[in-house]
Amino acid sequence: MKVIKCDNYDAVSQKASEIVIDQIKKKPNTVLGLATGSTPLKLYSNLVSAYEKKEISFKHILSYNLDEYIGIDRNHSQSYYQYMHQHLFSLVDMNEENIHIPNNDVTRIDEIAELYNKDLNKHQIDLQILGIGSNGHIGFNEPGTPLGNETFIVELDEQTRKDNKRFFKSLNEVPKYAITMGIKNIMRSKKIILMASGIEKADAIYQMINGRVTDELPASVLQLHPDVVVIVDQLAGSKL
Ligand code: GLP
Repeated sequence: MKVIKCDNYDAVSQKASEIVIDQIKKKPNTVLGLATGSTPLKLYSNLVSAYEKKEISFKHILSYNLDEYIGIDRNHSQSYYQYMHQHLFSLVDMNEENIHIPNNDVTRIDEIAELYNKDLNKHQIDLQILGIGSNGHIGFNEPGTPLGNETFIVELDEQTRKDNKRFFKSLNEVPKYAITMGIKNIMRSKKIILMASGIEKADAIYQMINGRVTDELPASVLQLHPDVVVIVDQLAGSKL
């Protein structure tokens, strides 16, 4: 793993956007793996700026999102479908048919993971963007998830629900389940950027890099991937 320490969140976002912009310039039909959460917000706004300056186009980009909540509608303000459209897709020239976000339709619960997985496996992600949970999750691969999993439905960890409560009115409203790419899907990506900011990520970042590879800290599996760039700010990297 290559580790880049930056002064602050803006510098983390700047570094990550340079890598993504470079990738899109080199390969306009890049397959991007996309993450949600607070961490990539500035990265996405930098990408929108680069698009507005005509440095890059998303016209031929194919995107696969890591995960989606189950139990809230796609139209809910906190669905990842809304998040992606609000912060990136509706602001650039992305083709709607090239956008892939796991379907969270509960009436089709038996098939949605398999269908997303099938679609995902038709391609190889060129560049996967990741954040990390304070418990070391990536996507929604919570501690204890088998490292060989492909897209599946997961019961969210209490810690994750508490961490994400800030986006909802109460803990009760935070969904209990999600659909997520599995570790195996993430590991198939050609290149991975993991971004982290803030002191609450410091332990997870330390364990991910220096701990043993264990399903108790799912991000630790990235030690086995040949091309991972970890970009942290001073606080997230303070235990390294
Ligand atoms: C979320 C997402 C992850 C994200 C992580 C950290 O729940 N499922 O993809 O990386 O938790 O989120 P944040 O960036 O808001 O700290």
